[in-house]
Amino acid sequence: MTTIAAFAGVSPDVPSVRSTPAYADALAYFKDYPARSLMSDHSRTLLYSLVRMMRPRLVAEIGTLHAGTTEVFARALWENGEGVVHTADPYGGDRCPPIIGQWPAELQHHVQFHAKSSMDFFSRMVLEDKSFGLILVDGNHDFEYAFFDLQMSARLIESGGIVVMDNAEQAGPFKAARVFLAANPAWREIGGALAAYDPSRPFNRERASLPETSFLILQAPDHLSIGAEAQSWGQAWTTLPQVRGLRFEVVAPCKGILHYQVHLRGFANGNRWVKEERIEGSVRIDAGDDVMKLDHPFERSLSVVAPSEFDDALFTLEFDLCWQGDSNSGPLALAALPTPFQ
Ligand SMILES: C[S@@+](CC[C@H](N)C(=O)[O-])C[C@H]1O[C@@H](n2cnc3c(N)ncnc32)[C@H](O)[C@@H]1O
Repeated sequence: MTTIAAFAGVSPDVPSVRSTPAYADALAYFKDYPARSLMSDHSRTLLYSLVRMMRPRLVAEIGTLHAGTTEVFARALWENGEGVVHTADPYGGDRCPPIIGQWPAELQHHVQFHAKSSMDFFSRMVLEDKSFGLILVDGNHDFEYAFFDLQMSARLIESGGIVVMDNAEQAGPFKAARVFLAANPAWREIGGALAAYDPSRPFNRERASLPETSFLILQAPDHLSIGAEAQSWGQAWTTLPQVRGLRFEVVAPCKGILHYQVHLRGFANGNRWVKEERIEGSVRIDAGDDVMKLDHPFERSLSVVAPSEFDDALFTLEFDLCWQGDSNSGPLALAALPTPFQ
């Protein structure tokens, strides 16, 4: 296979990539290709360029249809020399594998198809502890589905990663992005479709984050932003059956009280033995310009050590966090979720 465009050295500045020679080469390549993709040439080229510039290890796609955009992703990952696109479509079980099976073997190597709805797909990805550098949301465009897909994307995206929602002109994805951004002010739109929303033209076909695409392009903050709304990150695997406290890394100035609720759970003997321990508490944080590392011991330790006769013990840890900032403080900015210690 031949390569398309030299993206080496192209800055990952998304709006200005469109004026680079590499983008022009890619645009010529993706003119009317892949034939069964529903998107514009610029939309495909932008997806390709994002993967080439950002070099994500993992890409996720909700809505495979005929694997048109999947092929764009696979081609970009092949050119990067690494990475996998996980693509999900509950109605593609018969349709998608034969299409993907006809691609060059080099491209097939970079794709994994899941015949699952986005809900089943995201649940599986949570279980496998996967995170993604780039996610395309292009499944069911009703608000309820698009909003769910966006929220789960936000949960699984890496710091600074990008979520692209297709069909900015449709009510569902547009409202989902607006509601999401209002509730998550640390996120930003790359482009101006949401800020420039004109209530007198609620179905404007040209509105999009970048011209000639149909996309809303949302970028995650480069840190974990904790706001005043209590939020859970769900259960995540841990190797620790005992937890004595949490380690925080605060990366931006802020003052206030962090409230937490922690659940430690143990499962053994084929899930017939289950134990759960819970603690809630709070910690005062006064962070200045320098990164602040803070070890916070709980009032008592949590322990879900399994009886020694069981050799299949697994443990999960779940955080609920809520930030009560002082009157002049912004949200709490953490490098990542707290690290437990024992
Ligand atoms: C617009 S098409 C995707 C087009 C594709 N991304 C492209 O441009 O080549 C939408 C796809 O989403 C799928 N879909 C519908 N409901 C879904 C759900 N709950 N989860 C994931 N995919 C879904 C449909 O079967 C359909 O194939």
